Amino acid sequence: MPKINKYVDIDTIERETKKDLIDRHSPFIHCEEKAQNGEMFQVTVKMGNEYSHPDDFDHYIASISLFNAETLLAKTEFVPGTLGNEKSHAEVTFNIRAKGKKLNLVAHGYCTKHGIWESTAKTVLVS
Ligand SMILES: [Fe+2]
Repeated sequence: MPKINKYVDIDTIERETKKDLIDRHSPFIHCEEKAQNGEMFQVTVKMGNEYSHPDDFDHYIASISLFNAETLLAKTEFVPGTLGNEKSHAEVTFNIRAKGKKLNLVAHGYCTKHGIWESTAKTVLVS
C-alpha cells in the first residue's frame, strides 16, 4: 500500500521548506456547509493554499479524488502542461448528488514525485 500523507496545519511547522512541501501538496475542499438531499452539490478541490506546485513533465499533480467517507465519488486526471508548465494550484469542481444525512468529504491529491496527500475531512449536513 502506498503511504498516504495527511494534511498538517502549517502554522504548527517551523521550517519554511516543510510548510511549502505540505501546503502545495494538500488538497483543500471548498463547498457550502449544507446540501439539499437529492440535489446537485458543487465541491471544489484546490491543491495548495499559500504555496503553489510545479507543473513540469516529471513533476506535476496527476489526479484529484473526492471521497464520501470510504466511497469514491469522483476523480479527475491532469497531464503535465494543464497549468501551462507554470507553478500553480491544480483545481477541479465536482458536481455530485447529495444523499443521506451528511457527507464526510475527504480529498486526495496525487503528485508524480511526492505521492498521495489527504485533505482534512469536511462534513456537510444534508437535509
Ligand atoms: Fe510534488
